[in-house]
Amino acid sequence: MPGLQKMPRRDLLTPRTLVVLLQLALVPSQLAGCLLNPCLEVVPDKAFRCVGLDTSGVPPEVPNTTQSLDLSFNNLKSLGSNYFSSVPELHLLDLTRCHIHTIEDNSFQDLHKLSTLILTANSLQYLGTAAFYGLTSLKKLVLVETNIASLTDLPIGHLHTLQELNLGNNNIASLKLPKYFTNLTSLRHLSFLSNKITHISKGDLDALREANRLNLTLVLSLNNIKYIQPGSFAKIHLAELVLRSSFENFSVMQTSLQGLTGLQVNRLIVGEFSDRQRLVDFQRGLLSGLCQVQMQEFVLICFRGFEDDTDTLFNCIGNVSSIRLVDLHLEEVSEVPMFSQVKHLECKKCKFKEVPAVKLSLFKELRVLRITQSKHLNSFRQKFESLSNLEVIDFSENRLSFTGCCSPQFRKCPNLKHLNLSFNSDISVTGDFTNMKNLLYLDLQHTKLFGPGSYPVFLSLQKLIYLDISNTRTHVKSQCTFCGLNSLRVLKMAGNSFQNNKLANNFKNLTHLHTLDISSCKLVQVDQSTFDALSELKELNISNNKLLSFDPVVYKPLQALTALDFSHNQLSVLLDSALEILPNSLVLLDISQNLFECSCVHLNFLKWIKEKQELLQNEESMICHTPAYTKNMSLLSFDLSSCQLSATTVTFLVIMLPAATVFLFLIYKYYFQLYYSLVLLSGCKHSAERGDTYDAFVIHSSKDQEWVIKELVEPLERGTPPFQLCLYYRDFLPGVPIVTNIIQEGFLSSRNVIAVISTNFLESKWCSFEFDIAQSWQLVEGKAGIIMIVLEEVNKDLLRRKLGLSRYLRRNTYLEWKNKEISRHIFWRQLTGVLLEGKKWNHEEVKLM
Ligand SMILES: *[C@@H]1O[C@H](CO)[C@@H](O)[C@H](O)[C@H]1NC(C)=O
Ligand SMILES: *[C@@H]1O[C@H](CO)[C@@H](O)[C@H](O)[C@H]1NC(C)=O
Ligand SMILES: *[C@@H]1O[C@H](CO)[C@@H](O)[C@H](O)[C@H]1NC(C)=O
Ligand SMILES: *[C@@H]1O[C@H](CO)[C@@H](O)[C@H](O)[C@H]1NC(C)=O
Ligand SMILES: *[C@@H]1O[C@H](CO)[C@@H](O)[C@H](O)[C@H]1NC(C)=O
Repeated sequence: MPGLQKMPRRDLLTPRTLVVLLQLALVPSQLAGCLLNPCLEVVPDKAFRCVGLDTSGVPPEVPNTTQSLDLSFNNLKSLGSNYFSSVPELHLLDLTRCHIHTIEDNSFQDLHKLSTLILTANSLQYLGTAAFYGLTSLKKLVLVETNIASLTDLPIGHLHTLQELNLGNNNIASLKLPKYFTNLTSLRHLSFLSNKITHISKGDLDALREANRLNLTLVLSLNNIKYIQPGSFAKIHLAELVLRSSFENFSVMQTSLQGLTGLQVNRLIVGEFSDRQRLVDFQRGLLSGLCQVQMQEFVLICFRGFEDDTDTLFNCIGNVSSIRLVDLHLEEVSEVPMFSQVKHLECKKCKFKEVPAVKLSLFKELRVLRITQSKHLNSFRQKFESLSNLEVIDFSENRLSFTGCCSPQFRKCPNLKHLNLSFNSDISVTGDFTNMKNLLYLDLQHTKLFGPGSYPVFLSLQKLIYLDISNTRTHVKSQCTFCGLNSLRVLKMAGNSFQNNKLANNFKNLTHLHTLDISSCKLVQVDQSTFDALSELKELNISNNKLLSFDPVVYKPLQALTALDFSHNQLSVLLDSALEILPNSLVLLDISQNLFECSCVHLNFLKWIKEKQELLQNEESMICHTPAYTKNMSLLSFDLSSCQLSATTVTFLVIMLPAATVFLFLIYKYYFQLYYSLVLLSGCKHSAERGDTYDAFVIHSSKDQEWVIKELVEPLERGTPPFQLCLYYRDFLPGVPIVTNIIQEGFLSSRNVIAVISTNFLESKWCSFEFDIAQSWQLVEGKAGIIMIVLEEVNKDLLRRKLGLSRYLRRNTYLEWKNKEISRHIFWRQLTGVLLEGKKWNHEEVKLM
């Protein structure tokens, strides 16, 4: 950032510079301001970091509202009175490595609210007696590496509020606490880490005794203590005393610890730092001085040379209620004293190869036992016996591998409530928990298990409320895998698998379950009744599976759900029916990393997404998958308005499609009628011009053609007078559409229409059509009477329906053809009678007659 400020001067107007200038102009002004402002605004108006600026003084751009100011790595050199008057609101001031050598009186006068002052790594040469005046709220003062050699002249006696004073990495040689320490009544933490203290004498800590301080942590690590005079700590009560890498050798340590006589301390930490090993071997009696120390907790840390001679380890600490052994090369448990009072015992990073159950069983008062992170620990053959108070066993993060878990390992431990065997190698669980009926917590995660999944191993754990078998390579085959766990509230089984990658009724009796984690279980399907019993479930994690859908029927019973993680599946959409069953109690829903379909078909879902942003987690990872053009687009950035348009299109189509279909269907059905109407319209114009070429136009079924020729055409055309008939097979013009012919040649040119009505006629669509035309023609033009000749075998009902009213119209003639001589005679008389009406005789015809 500072580099950007230094703009090249000479070539200010080269094209390159112009480009840079242009870019700067385009950067939003805030960012540009930031680039030019040497202080980083960590929290707007509240926290600023002005590191390494070579500035002297508080930079002017730091506003007076600032509460946290980091001025480290500047060049302040000397602080004068009211140096920080421009930032009176400060709570935290960091002046690390600012080359400060002088702090004059009243330098911090204005900082009444300052609670933390850090002066690390300034080589102070002069401190005014009123240097820290005004710091009436100071809680933490860090004077690490500030060249302090003596406590005597340190002007801090008035800081009543001070809780933490860190004097690490200085040259303090004496622990003689000056009188003013009695005033520091709030002091809780006092560190002399890495100083030059060699001797601690009686009276040095009198200030602490006088103040009757009950809760002070005193750190004396990394000094070079050669001697602690017995009585120095007598009647002193500390919360914690830390002595790590404080002694140069074993015998110095042993005698010095004897000097702690009379100390009362809540926690004593003794040992080394892993990178500052000074003591080589543990020897008998090292801790013998501690017999005279009253303590609650003893921590022994980072001793490597621990191969042998450890039998006295517990001699003086057997009555301590809590012992932590951390990073010790302890291979065996040392002799346990009779009537030990130890209630908590922890061995972390120890070198046991076998769980030392027999010896540990001698700690009769044991309530909590932890053996963790011991990479040599792989065997568990010994048995714990008669530890009636034992409640917690934590053997996590070892390399344990054993069979027959878990009852046989714990005989007469009736109060065992927690059992943690997580992060081990492999354990076979037989289902024998008879000694552990009161177990509440069982953690087996990340340990390869044999047993669970194949048969109901947890049957007798009726009180268990917490079970973690995540990542245990459990393959759930038995539907009764979790049978018996009637009190279970938390079930974690991520990273396992189920038979056929399917959840089927596996959780039937877990009615009290609150939390269920079945993430990463390769699930492709969830059966309908799976969650029926889980009406109290609050958290469900079913993420990282291969589920294609969120079936409302399946998830409906989960009406108490508050958090649902359905991320990393293959969901394409949440249907309306699914959104409806999401319970009101839900406050957290993660459906990120699914294969969403971003199409307007799912408009409701996409709308819902935008409305429910408070509920949805990881919104930025809700990504479209299909259609291809939306791939990797955020669901939130999907443009809903693009759908509104096509929604109207869709509606339009939805309405128009059937309409068009109906329309086309009608056209198809009434094609003839339509066509006829067209011709009719054009025909109207010509009708006047046409003469009555024919006496009658005969419409008939082609199947009756023989009858027509024999019984109608021959008698009528050859008879006297001869009538001229129009017959479609004979008189229609070739090359002209049939309908045109019917209209123009048939109806327009004939005075009458003869319809030969037979069964064939009634069945023929074509004939019906012609007949319809004839009827409507009659109505339109008022012309041409219709002569209906009904052949006798016709179904009378059908006939009545087809011919309708026509037969009753005055101008129409209704004739029945009967094949009897007498009937035929009457028929002929009637027919010729009708045909003669309005006949125009031409000359030749008259002559012939
Ligand atoms: C901070 O400065 C502004 C003027 O820049 C002044 O009005 C305000 O009173 C000051 N606040 C404090 C706490 O000094
Ligand atoms: C003692 O101080 C520690 C922190 O240093 C604190 O957690 C604890 O509550 C304090 N105990 C009492 C009795 O004040
Ligand atoms: C069991 O131990 C592991 C590893 O130390 C820890 O993460 C886990 O929380 C413990 N389980 C319980 C139930 O305390
Ligand atoms: C189911 O749980 C109830 C109590 O919640 C219990 O009485 C019943 O025996 C259990 N049934 C099975 C099959 O475990
Ligand atoms: C669900 O499980 C996954 C993988 O096991 C994990 O990353 C995620 O944080 C869990 N979700 C919640 C809400 O705890």
